[in-house]
Amino acid sequence: MDFNLTEEQLMIQQAARDFAQTELLPGVIERDNEQKFPYEQVKKMGELGFLGMMVDPKYGGAGMDSVSYVLAMEEIAKVDASAAVVMSVNNSLVCAGLEKYASEEQKQKYLVPLAKGEVIGAFCLSEPEAGSDATSQKTTAIDMGDHYLLNGTKNWITNGGNAQYYIVIAQTDVEKKHKGINAFIVEKGWDGFVVGKKEDKLGIRGSDTHSLMFTDVKVPKENRIGEDGFGFNFAMAVLNGGRIGIASQALGIASGAYELSLKYAKERKAFRTEIINHQAIAFKLADMHVNITAARMLCYKAAAEKDAGLDISESGAMAKLYASQVAMDTTIEAVQIHGGYGYVKEYHVERMMRDAKITQIYEGTSEIQKIVISRSIAKK
Ligand code: CAA
Ligand code: FAD
Repeated sequence: MDFNLTEEQLMIQQAARDFAQTELLPGVIERDNEQKFPYEQVKKMGELGFLGMMVDPKYGGAGMDSVSYVLAMEEIAKVDASAAVVMSVNNSLVCAGLEKYASEEQKQKYLVPLAKGEVIGAFCLSEPEAGSDATSQKTTAIDMGDHYLLNGTKNWITNGGNAQYYIVIAQTDVEKKHKGINAFIVEKGWDGFVVGKKEDKLGIRGSDTHSLMFTDVKVPKENRIGEDGFGFNFAMAVLNGGRIGIASQALGIASGAYELSLKYAKERKAFRTEIINHQAIAFKLADMHVNITAARMLCYKAAAEKDAGLDISESGAMAKLYASQVAMDTTIEAVQIHGGYGYVKEYHVERMMRDAKITQIYEGTSEIQKIVISRSIAKK
């Protein structure tokens, strides 16, 4: 067991840290206030290889391992959790799904520009009546011979307004239940595809979340991913990796709040001493440090198992369940350590507290992660 990072991993971590400090930090409060998507920053992330980190260079990616991805995600999320979710969706839901399961033609047409960050993608599974219960898809794709006719509504889609390519999950045969579900690549601008309203959110306000409406959208047969009926298993397999991305986002939010709190506690004085000298504050920092270190280990373990080609359904769920709880606990205490200053925007921790909450909801709620973990341990 080797707990040391390689030189290459350390370089990637440093590059992400530098990028976050110089490019993301300056406008992060304004983007949160105005719900402004980080257009220029995402473009630069693409140029630096952060949007297709794990994709083979022959498809335009950076060819890095999953541990490097966790390192970069933590650094980006430490400063801007909204930019981090754009990165996570593009890398681990869209690019990873296409690289592993798409045809060569689909890879050339869609994966290459996505991995280079020339365009971004979205992953569309959730619906108004199918969130946790993801097999209850109401969106239909009827086989018309050379194309499918897509009808329905997707909800809560991250990158919904800014994506160019969308992976859309739909029911093709109700009788077959989850074996009658398929995944399709849909392009923005196709007739009948409308991007709905942007959600006004508690946190990750710099990322855009939209509903999407499909009315008789013609999807060419060659845009189905994998064999007929593979769509639900595709979505689950992709989400296993996606959960490592969100776990790393949660880890970053927590470690960002911890670093700010530690610095503040060493500077702020109350009762003639720095507040870190009050044991109540010091113990909060000690708890944060332990919990964050444990969350980081779970993220690294899941990523290392992914790189080793192991089944990561359990380890990805464990990392997400734990890191998202740590993000919530840590950010609440970070606001407390900052006192009144923690309650205002200038000090960042109130935003981090709002951003943390979503990590317990999307890519499977904490309750769903416990279902995945408990089913996995029951099988052993
Ligand atoms: N990995 C691989 N396969 C899995 C799996 C996993 N983690 N979980 C389920 N499956 C497979 C099962 O093996 C089964 O396949 P077979 O029939 O071929 O064996 C199939 O999926 C159906 O499984 P279940 O019978 O267990 O289905 P279920 O309905 O009881 O529950 C669930 C499945 C785990 C609850 C699933 O519906 C789920 O994960 N729900 C949460 C949905 C989710 O995470 N949505 C996220 C949307 S994307 C997003 O949120 C992005 C973002 O915010 C940025
Ligand atoms: P529900 O499934 O209705 O759950 C409500 C509550 O019941 C939760 O607490 C849940 O844990 C609990 N519950 C449900 N079933 C069970 C059970 N069997 N046992 C115990 N408890 C249960 N989806 C996408 O497809 N793509 C995206 O890009 C995307 N981005 C998102 C971005 C944001 C900002 C948000 C808010 C959501 C996003 N989602 C996306 C959707 C997200 O994945 C769902 O919101 C999530 O899976 C929960 O589904 P739901 O909202 O329908 O809640």
